[in-house]
Amino acid sequence: MKARIVTLPGDGVGPEVTAAAVAVLEAVAARFGHDFAFDEHLIGGAAIDATGEPLPAATLAACQAADAVLLGAVGGPKWSDPNAPVRPEQGLLALRAALGVYANLRPLQVHPALAALSPLKDEKLKDVDVLFVRELTGGAYFGAKTRTDDDATDECRYTVAEVERVARRAFELARARRKHVTSVDKANVLETSRLWRRTVTRVAADYPDVALEHQLVDSMAMLLLTQPGRYDVVVTENLFGDILTDEAAALAGSLGLLPSASLGAGSKGLYEPIHGSAPDIAGKGIANPVGTVLSVALLLRHSLQLDAEAQAVEAAVDHVLRHGPRSRDIGGNAGTDAVRDAVLAALDAAGDAFLQGARACG
Ligand code: NAD
Ligand code: IPM
Ligand code: MN
Repeated sequence: MKARIVTLPGDGVGPEVTAAAVAVLEAVAARFGHDFAFDEHLIGGAAIDATGEPLPAATLAACQAADAVLLGAVGGPKWSDPNAPVRPEQGLLALRAALGVYANLRPLQVHPALAALSPLKDEKLKDVDVLFVRELTGGAYFGAKTRTDDDATDECRYTVAEVERVARRAFELARARRKHVTSVDKANVLETSRLWRRTVTRVAADYPDVALEHQLVDSMAMLLLTQPGRYDVVVTENLFGDILTDEAAALAGSLGLLPSASLGAGSKGLYEPIHGSAPDIAGKGIANPVGTVLSVALLLRHSLQLDAEAQAVEAAVDHVLRHGPRSRDIGGNAGTDAVRDAVLAALDAAGDAFLQGARACG
């Protein structure tokens, strides 16, 4: 198939992990006979430096015309002055809003070969398979903001329609999994959470085959560590989802491992690892590319409907996590490129198996 993919490397380790992921997409295209056209654009701090804006019009137009967007990370100390008039993160938020990608899927699995890196004991990790569905285009991130010399506000607002669409997405996803949704809120304190809870409860009536439970976010932060194996789909608002998924990444062993897919109404999506620009290791060639490579698998699956290709990428990553080489954050000493090359080699082997399977079936 033909697909137009916009790449937005961004800042810090963003370009390093994006390059590795693009190499994987190129290998998938060559191996499976697809025609992927890549178009790289500026976002974040790199865009501010070049144009003064974190999301230049040319970048947004290219993303709107693309079948899928692959992003590295934005931000970093260079642009983090609290008094700066414009910030890299604004570019990412504006892009998410403009693309209407309201549902951010963040799957968490704990690879058996990495269980020792988790702060939790093995027995707690064996059944961990959680799909976080984070609302991505509402809440405090997008409400009105004010600031004077001695006070500041961030309005947190949700409409019923915003809650309903992300809740429906969570229930649909749960149907294809273990049919259990945990909705996380702070309904004992926040009005937005009471609207959230009422709306999710109403939507649940349309999915009688899916069980729903509500959990307050503070105790959820604890339960994620004490009983991670009991969760299937976890749906929550933007800020809670941001925080809980970084916590969840620690269970997997590193923030560098987790991918994400941000989806809206159509098949177009924005794909990015959940980590940031990692300024402490940027430029050293040691960032773990796995979160971004797994984001490519999600891109293949959700935007291009290429499930066999997505599985081949996931199988290649699985092979590398099992046998190495590993980057430093997961206990090895391999650089980004060595991990990329190992994924490409494993993908080659997986591609052989796939082609043999196709021949056997045909
Ligand atoms: P971070 O995710 O960048 O880094 C947190 C820690 O995780 C660091 O020690 C880092 O080295 C490590 N880490 C992250 N990704 C890694 C990888 N691929 N391989 C190995 N180690 C990895 O979070 P932060 O330091 O709080 O934020 C830095 C900047 O990134 C901020 O400007 C923030 O706004 C931005 N950020 C951007 C995104 C995004 O673009 N989607 C996401 C999160 C943070
Ligand atoms: C993420 C990041 C972003 C967020 C920032 C950079 C705006 O932390 O993608 O998780 O908070 O959504
Ligand atoms: Mn985050």
